[in-house]
Amino acid sequence: MRVNEAPLTEESVGSALRTRRFGSVVYVLGRIDSTNAFAKTLAGRSAPDGTLVVADHQTAGRGRWGRSWASAPGLGLQFSVLLRPVSGRLDTHRLTLTAATSVAQAVGRLGLQSRLRWPNDVTVNSKKIAGVIVETQRNRRGAAFAVIGVGLNVNQRPSDFPQALAGKAGSIRQALGRKTDRPALLADLLLQLERDVHRLETEGPDFALGRWIRRNALLGKPVVLLTAAGEARGVVRGFHSDGALILAGEDGRLRRFSDAEVTEVSDAAGH
Ligand code: BTN
Repeated sequence: MRVNEAPLTEESVGSALRTRRFGSVVYVLGRIDSTNAFAKTLAGRSAPDGTLVVADHQTAGRGRWGRSWASAPGLGLQFSVLLRPVSGRLDTHRLTLTAATSVAQAVGRLGLQSRLRWPNDVTVNSKKIAGVIVETQRNRRGAAFAVIGVGLNVNQRPSDFPQALAGKAGSIRQALGRKTDRPALLADLLLQLERDVHRLETEGPDFALGRWIRRNALLGKPVVLLTAAGEARGVVRGFHSDGALILAGEDGRLRRFSDAEVTEVSDAAGH
């Protein structure tokens, strides 16, 4: 198949999309600060459920824990989907696990085996190729909406990443050894995500965790968790049905964490 290397356009994205709900309205932007920020602005202006914002380049892409998301122009996929209204079943954690698994499945169809690092990283050969951030908010009338933001490194070479990400970030191109058609991949990923969000809504919360756990890379691993309250070391013992991570601390006590930055460490004591 010929790989479309041109900048994303409404035409190239619109003609590739096969979704019904995601992409009910589509914005394809050459450059923007953050597709998540823009989707939230649109939500405040009554944008419909399924509104999709795609950008060829973000100048202030947002990651979890206040991190930034780097996106060299024209190489990756950066997009956000607006969900509204959102029920209790679509909480931030479960949507995050669901979306990360959807990315892993779409990447798998390209022939790449990926692993999921709690809660939102998609890795291939231990390098992060994608991240998910879900932001939920209530509008002035109290109705909740959610924005699922996905950043996926597609056609980047190692030199396309900032120095600080050297050795940590990877791309589909690096793993496959060839370029991938971004509109086709976006369409496939959105179809997967649309189906998975629907199943989460209809089948309930276990759907999110079960399929995520099968791909998780952390069970039994020694880790350091960075949380707002400080650092915790131990071994990952499991995951709660709400997506929380269960850590066996160095004193043997089990503690649950609903949000943290995880780093794997090399020995069982977590040092
Ligand atoms: C993370 O790994 O911490 C999450 C990264 C999420 C990045 C995507 S790129 C599209 C969307 N818009 C943003 O500003 N962030 C998300």
